[in-house]
Amino acid sequence: MNKKVAVIGAGNVGASVAQYMAEANIADVIMIDIIEGFPQGKALDMTQAGPIRNYNCMITGSNDYKDIKDSDLVVMTAGLARKPGMSREDLLAANAEIVGTAAKNIKEHAPNAYVVVVSNPLDIMTYHMWKVTGFPKNRVCGQAGILDSTRFRAFVAMELGVAMRDVQAMVMGGHGDTMVPLPRYTTVAGIPIKELIGADRIKEISERTRMGGGEIVKLLKTGSAYYAPASASVEMARSILCDEKRVVPCSCYLEGQYGIKDIYIGVPAILGANGVEKVLELDLSEEELGALKASADKYKGVLKEIGY
Ligand code: 2OP
Repeated sequence: MNKKVAVIGAGNVGASVAQYMAEANIADVIMIDIIEGFPQGKALDMTQAGPIRNYNCMITGSNDYKDIKDSDLVVMTAGLARKPGMSREDLLAANAEIVGTAAKNIKEHAPNAYVVVVSNPLDIMTYHMWKVTGFPKNRVCGQAGILDSTRFRAFVAMELGVAMRDVQAMVMGGHGDTMVPLPRYTTVAGIPIKELIGADRIKEISERTRMGGGEIVKLLKTGSAYYAPASASVEMARSILCDEKRVVPCSCYLEGQYGIKDIYIGVPAILGANGVEKVLELDLSEEELGALKASADKYKGVLKEIGY
């Protein structure tokens, strides 16, 4: 029997997750959305692309959370997206409600699932999902660090005119303006970028990465990015479902690593069959660690706003 992935929300991110999941051919996919006919229609359309896009799994849509029963993994994408001028934190109250409802339903109908959260503000919504489901910390993680680092990778590749896949990058911290791009851990085929790009330009590229989501919101005007967020979520889901042990930055629950406690924040982790199998502790410089802690402090404050 195929594995089963439930995608909550059939909007731009959710539908792209479903499609990339289907193309990965590793699980059947069900999309859940509150709008009647919407997830069903998208699922049927995607299914009909199957013979050409070469996938063999089932894609279905439903308005009923009961249909996520027995899911191995849930990707939580539902929620409002930013409009120009908004920060991810501006979505807090509305999305906390949506994520809370989803979490209760995941707990009830898919109690053994792993959960990858994509809804914003990401680190806060991941914490909220963890609390409301009551799942162990290894079974709930958030997607952003891998998205932020793929943006960094793309910008470095564009700068140097090299293959994107040869660039590896690390971005830690919260998925917001306080994120911490780490040029020291960013390489091109193993070569540290400081040997290839001048310090000022690295600063500019790091800054563009930090504001990467906002740059797209400004251009789209009606919503936020979805191709890269969906690709990043599927990379994480795949590593868990196929026990790939990928090392990716993602939002994990910290219990003292980096001197930070009781918060979800972006750190490098090993993702495998047991979900977040290990948080890796890098030997950060004083400045890097200070930036990570400042990011964590900011999110501690935001958590308070929803009663934690
Ligand atoms: C982004 O950074 C939507 O948070 C997402 O594009």
